[in-house]
Amino acid sequence: MSERTLILIKPDGVARGLVGEVVRRIEGKGLQLVAMELRTIDHATAAEHYAEHEGRPYYEDLMSFITGGPLVAIVAEGDRAIEAFRQLAGSTDPVAAPTGSIRGDFATATNRNIVHGSDSPENGIREAKIFFPNL
Ligand code: CDP
Ligand code: MG
Repeated sequence: MSERTLILIKPDGVARGLVGEVVRRIEGKGLQLVAMELRTIDHATAAEHYAEHEGRPYYEDLMSFITGGPLVAIVAEGDRAIEAFRQLAGSTDPVAAPTGSIRGDFATATNRNIVHGSDSPENGIREAKIFFPNL
């Protein structure tokens, strides 16, 4: 079934020049780009996006990191897009992520793991609205 997922190329991915690489993998997988924008987000937007993580030990670092520089927000659509992109990204801990996945190929630290991808169709819709309210 066709779904939408919200993908972020986080500030570490943008700073390291990995935008083209990540977009190539998204397109190569056959997902359609529906929206894409380079922007620096404020604390309120970040807090809404990561609401379920409030209170976790890594939360403050995550907030300052994700607001600390430009990121690329993408809405991608396709058959099983949520699972398809989570598979492209690899697991949250990049050292555990398989070689061939984005995190597995390009990161070592869980708090600097290059990309975000929605984890359910409901969150895909919720998160896409935060970044692209008019979509
Ligand atoms: O991004 P993903 O859905 O794979 O992981 P998550 O468990 O939903 O965590 C969201 C984000 O919080 C991660 O991608 C990391 O950027 C950050 N995080 C962290 O810095 N340290 C942790 N131990 C867990 C998560
Ligand atoms: Mg998550």
